[in-house]
Amino acid sequence: MVAFLVPHTQPTANMGLRYNSASSAISLSEVRFAWRPESAPVLDISRLEIESGQHIFVAGPSGSGKSSLLGLLAGVSVPQAGQIRLLGQRLEKMGGSERDRFRADHMGVIFQMFNLIPYLTVVENVTLPCRFSRRRYEQAHSNGGLTVEAVRLLSRLGISDPLLNRPVTELSVGQQQRVAAARALIGSPEIVIADEPTSALDADHRHDFLQLLFEECRNAQSTLVFVSHDTSLSHLFDQTVALSKINRAGSAISMDARRDS
Ligand SMILES: Nc1ncnc2c1ncn2[C@@H]1O[C@H](COP(=O)(O)OP(=O)(O)O)[C@@H](O)[C@H]1O
Ligand SMILES: [Mg+2]
Repeated sequence: MVAFLVPHTQPTANMGLRYNSASSAISLSEVRFAWRPESAPVLDISRLEIESGQHIFVAGPSGSGKSSLLGLLAGVSVPQAGQIRLLGQRLEKMGGSERDRFRADHMGVIFQMFNLIPYLTVVENVTLPCRFSRRRYEQAHSNGGLTVEAVRLLSRLGISDPLLNRPVTELSVGQQQRVAAARALIGSPEIVIADEPTSALDADHRHDFLQLLFEECRNAQSTLVFVSHDTSLSHLFDQTVALSKINRAGSAISMDARRDS
């Protein structure tokens, strides 16, 4: 299986890439996104296609638009122009609640800020997607049950008793990041997107985390989109995309970032 990634700066013939949105898990076409209508676009992507089951690393420095891109893929934001097709469905044509449903059923998202629910325990946070999605519930159920599956994922990430029934706010940042990862993986979603998911982990936990992430995605044949500024991880993936290569708005952003710093 191959990811089809089409940088706007290079002719596709030289990249050995194919176009076939029918077999893509994720397909973007002429997507433009600005945070405010009056401001310059943060993303301007002519074409990005990722085939089902691929593990893709999206690299870019801080401020280059990685989280903005994942926000579009997760249906948290909508583009001003262009098409975003996930699993054959047009995300930008859906209303807000339809996108929420699609995300709950089909996507595991590890947000950069985790977005854990502070008044729930560790296990309750992990099983939460299964309470919003019958599909994920049934999948976790067939893997042994919600709590069993949550405990299995958490223990693979080094989180076990007595942490499991603690409020998630009592965990360290690195532990919370692993809880967010377990929550994204439960119920075997078809697409997993991860925003700098190893930023708070030490080397040992990073290794265990990546092992679990790849293994779970392989077992579920999930498509994985992983963004990070840390290019030392990129060799572990099927393909790496430099955001600057596919994002025509990239040069404007890096000038902004230089001005800000
Ligand atoms: N919620 C937001 N509202 C307005 N601008 C934002 C918001 N989030 C990010 N931006 C801007 O979008 C640009 C890209 O940011 P982001 O996607 O977070 O980059 P990265 O994840 O690569 O660090 C930056 O200039 C940033 O200031
Ligand atoms: Mg970010």
